[in-house]
Amino acid sequence: MSTAAIIPAAGLGLRLGGETPKAFREVGGESLLVHAMRGLLAATAADLVCFVVAVPAGTEELMRKELQPYAGNVPLLVIPGGAERADSVRAALEVVPVDGIDCVLVHDAARAFVPVEVVERVVAAVRDGAAAVVPVVPVTDTIKRVSAAGEVVDTPDRSTLVAVQTPQGFDPAVLRRAHAAGGIGATDDAMLCERLGVTVVTVEGSEDAFKVTRPRDLLLAEALLAERRL
Ligand code: CTP
Ligand code: MG
Repeated sequence: MSTAAIIPAAGLGLRLGGETPKAFREVGGESLLVHAMRGLLAATAADLVCFVVAVPAGTEELMRKELQPYAGNVPLLVIPGGAERADSVRAALEVVPVDGIDCVLVHDAARAFVPVEVVERVVAAVRDGAAAVVPVVPVTDTIKRVSAAGEVVDTPDRSTLVAVQTPQGFDPAVLRRAHAAGGIGATDDAMLCERLGVTVVTVEGSEDAFKVTRPRDLLLAEALLAERRL
């Protein structure tokens, strides 16, 4: 399986706060972005043939130099991201080689600690013929839909709900069609495939693939890394 890995890392991390964009924030002495790259590289079944990393505009040169040693012998392209996550992924997709790629993984830099097994499961599902694959975990909270006025509309049956993670895996042609159709309001890439009527397959995700979003998540990340390094 020849896989191109797209890492959207161009967000500002407003919920996390701080001076530095989130993907460049460090845990255990290394940036979330480096941890995310390492997680993908560990999945040998993915057979990575290129990394495309979308970073905040203006930081491309610096990040290319900084990330190159971590890419090993996998070619690395660093590009400026866009206003929304979907814009960053679309810009990255435009520079992914068209020939010789059987799978595209899209992986948030913010999900820096995804276990290798999750990446392998996603790749395996694409290899088995799925056009779009997402790792999922059960939802633990009761989820309610609410109106604009803040009143509860209804409570979906929790057993039918899952929380979705990354990396998400795609047939390259399907992902290109999905992004060509427009990404407005899309918080993940599978959603764009759903809009085309493509079946999205789920595989088991992991609690460790949580998205570093708020300050407390950095504490959890430090603890997780310390545990792994024991
Ligand atoms: N992302 C991106 N381009 C954007 C927005 C987000 O590449 N214009 C990336 C982020 O860098 C992150 C991933 O998409 O790796 C998931 O987004 P999120 O967790 O929302 O990160 P931020 O947008 O940086 O955080 P916030 O929403 O709190 O500002
Ligand atoms: Mg965001």
